[in-house]
Amino acid sequence: MTDVASQGPAPSEADRAVLTNRQGHPVYDNQNQRTVGARGPATLENYQFLEKISHFDRERIPERVVHARGATAFGVFVADGTVGDEPISRYTRAKLFQEKGKETEVALRFSTVAGGRDSSEAARDPRGFAVKFYTEDGNWDLVGNNLGVFFIRDAIKFPDFIHSQKPDPVNFDRQVANRVFDFWSQSPEAMHMITLVLGPRGIPASYRNMQGFGVNTYKWVNAQGETVLVKYHWLPQQAVKSWTAEDAEIAQGKDLGVHTKDLYEAIERGEYPSWDLHVQIMSDDEHPELDFDPLDDTKTWPENDFPLRKVGTMTLNRAPENFFDESEQIAFGTGVLVDGLDFSDDKMLVGRTFSYSDTQRYRVGPNYLQLPVNSAKNAKVHTNQRDGQMSYGVDLAPGQNPHVNYEPSITGGLREAEYPTHDEQGPVITGRVTRKRIPRTDDYTQAGQRYLLSEQWEKDELVANLIDGLSQCDRPIQERMIWHLFMAEDELGQRVGDGIGISADDVRGLAPLQTQTLTEAELQRAANLG
Ligand code: HEM
Repeated sequence: MTDVASQGPAPSEADRAVLTNRQGHPVYDNQNQRTVGARGPATLENYQFLEKISHFDRERIPERVVHARGATAFGVFVADGTVGDEPISRYTRAKLFQEKGKETEVALRFSTVAGGRDSSEAARDPRGFAVKFYTEDGNWDLVGNNLGVFFIRDAIKFPDFIHSQKPDPVNFDRQVANRVFDFWSQSPEAMHMITLVLGPRGIPASYRNMQGFGVNTYKWVNAQGETVLVKYHWLPQQAVKSWTAEDAEIAQGKDLGVHTKDLYEAIERGEYPSWDLHVQIMSDDEHPELDFDPLDDTKTWPENDFPLRKVGTMTLNRAPENFFDESEQIAFGTGVLVDGLDFSDDKMLVGRTFSYSDTQRYRVGPNYLQLPVNSAKNAKVHTNQRDGQMSYGVDLAPGQNPHVNYEPSITGGLREAEYPTHDEQGPVITGRVTRKRIPRTDDYTQAGQRYLLSEQWEKDELVANLIDGLSQCDRPIQERMIWHLFMAEDELGQRVGDGIGISADDVRGLAPLQTQTLTEAELQRAANLG
């Protein structure tokens, strides 16, 4: 990476700019504070020193509560104008997709999830894959991961899930296997994701060599207001490569930030990484014919029935000019959509959509959207929002009466945009307000299939990593996890069980505490486990 030594010869003394404080006052002495005599006490009116040190005291903002370790790069998305071989306008009116060759600026932040801001990038963990499109209709954020599914399907479980992944709250012990598997052993919906994160895909060889997914189900809306369900897939033009646990140990022994370095060095060499964006499309209904719910983020949609269709390509060609400004302060959210794109009723998506901007108002500040990296720079932004900490300016429209910061008004303020000429035509939903899991959970089929469809070395890695993790756990937690692995696939349960000395006979009858998480078919299978 470029550093101080590689910037070329320094300018002559006369050409060097003068150091000032933030008030614009020149700094005559940056080595010695003002004191009474050379050895004397410091004085409190020492503005230059106090400005410097108190700014330093505030250099850190809270790190992200999850995905704290990450790296951002910038580039461009180029649309195909089609979805597969059909005109894309048939499904969405989102402007960024319509014309072949249309370019939209993007930012992409890659991340790990559980560790802190300086933690190892070679950790076994899902990777975040968050893309911001700076479109002419405002910003669109697609905030996903590299594995395609998630551990839980209802946002209400997220704080508990994350607590289970983080160090012990009493002594900050980072040996978290017991906590992690304790939570998973009571959350059958995590089984599919476990087969991915504990397999080779759990440690990508670099950010450039991984896939990305929107994970949650979204909607597309066309000019007639008709809706379809969509899932997003980013396929890298670089090969998909993963590390074994051993590869990762060697890498992190040398450098904790190995993937950030790889990304920025590739961009500096002109090796710009690219990803093709594909979607899967389903009609916007409940799909009773499927054995899973299309709004369940623990499931993938079979590609034979719902093929991938390409819509464009993204290329990253710029690293940040300043990491703090452009990576630490960048803020993504699942609520940030443009016309032609919409939410689904996925119960994770709704919780996420509240959480992101809520945390960013705390983490970065209430005016986080005024920062250049977050502002909708390619759209016209005119709001009646005013003031708040770190307010940077007012987004007045040309000719707007600056006194009128309210709407409606007849004295030259902002007006509402034209309402679409038709009503949106998604399904009509009725139901009693309740707290119920979705009816079609099927937590084991896709986990078992994932195992069976893996290559032999991938199966062996998964089994070895499960044995390694579970060996660090208490016996009751081990037994309950083996129960789930048998439920997913006998061979998987058998192999991991053999590795830690637990058989199907040992675990029969150990259903999760909340047995309502199981379907009738699963209860029957449990009765004949193994
Ligand atoms: C970051 C909440 C599920 C992907 C975050 C942050 C929060 C959060 C609070 C920190 C944001 C910031 O400080 O700027 C949640 C909640 C979830 C959830 C409440 C479930 C209800 C997911 C899922 C995915 C995901 C399912 C993947 C599909 C990400 C990514 C980031 C992130 C990629 C990092 C964004 C960045 O690079 O700045 N999440 N999350 N999250 N989350 Fe989630």
